[in-house]
Amino acid sequence: MKRSVFVLSTAALGLGLLVSGTPAGAQEEYKNLQILPKDTGKQELLQTMRAFTDALGVRCDFCHLERVPGDHNSMDWASDDLEHKQIARGMMKMTASINGDLLPEATGEHDGGVQCVTCHRGLPNPRTLDQVLLRTAERDGIETAIAKYRELRERFYGTGSYDFSTGSLGKVAQTLAQEKGDLAGALQIVDLNVEMNPENAEVFVMRAELQAANGDDVGARASVEHALELDPENRHAKRMLQQMDGGK
Ligand code: HEC
Ligand code: HEC
Repeated sequence: MKRSVFVLSTAALGLGLLVSGTPAGAQEEYKNLQILPKDTGKQELLQTMRAFTDALGVRCDFCHLERVPGDHNSMDWASDDLEHKQIARGMMKMTASINGDLLPEATGEHDGGVQCVTCHRGLPNPRTLDQVLLRTAERDGIETAIAKYRELRERFYGTGSYDFSTGSLGKVAQTLAQEKGDLAGALQIVDLNVEMNPENAEVFVMRAELQAANGDDVGARASVEHALELDPENRHAKRMLQQMDGGK
């Protein structure tokens, strides 16, 4: 595979660093650089590493081995013993390949490109909120998924790591109802969405739909009427109310 030096540089990693001057012929400081240029200077290396910790919301020891736990002086930076470091190398290659090959192929040219943070958003494992919740619901049940939502919201609200707008819980409820046939679970998630967004008409419309699907016509009507109180022009709510009136 042809790889130019540029593709392997931190610029191609999208780290946007000012390449700090390592004078030509300077001694190689680091022992085990396989992706970064071997003569990477100290400042540039540290900036790259800080970009990693920021992007993933972790500390150095997520990837680097601390020979004596708790003792920062015992860090063995060159060691590859930790799996995360090896995964990170794969991610560096992937990012370089996106920026060096795939993006230009897709767009002809690109502006800025992809960085670790583009996907990771401060998380070691960059899943979306609905993915996290569905996975938790599947493994540990709906109550645990709801507890997980509260915990993540407490910790990450406003950081941009997760999307706490109504859509995420909406997607979870929809998937539970349509793909898993779990109407009761879907309703619990919609109730959470209502609790978090009591002023949002769409959330009440969704509750009405699920209540209707569940045979709770009285509840469905109350939800639609509440949606229309919040937003008298809401088209979905209007249409549902018409159907309810017309159908009887
Ligand atoms: C997400 C994983 C990750 C995190 C977090 C991380 N590093 Fe690294 N680090 C790497 C990888 C991967 C390499 C090897 C790069 C290569 O092969 O070109 C490396 C290499 C290094 C090296 C060079 C070691 C040598 O002699 O070869 C040093 C020093 C270093 N990191 C310091 C740090 C510091 C300090 C921090 C915290 C601010 C940190 N790293 C955080 C993944 C990480
Ligand atoms: C195109 C999106 C994307 C980019 C860019 C990206 N990652 Fe990842 N990364 C992922 C995904 C998705 C996962 C989870 C993979 C899985 O669960 O199988 C992941 C997982 C990881 C993990 C393993 C975390 C764990 O808990 O096991 C590390 C470490 C990591 N990435 C480091 C990096 C670093 C460092 C960069 C920048 C050089 C980077 N990633 C860039 C998408 C990305």
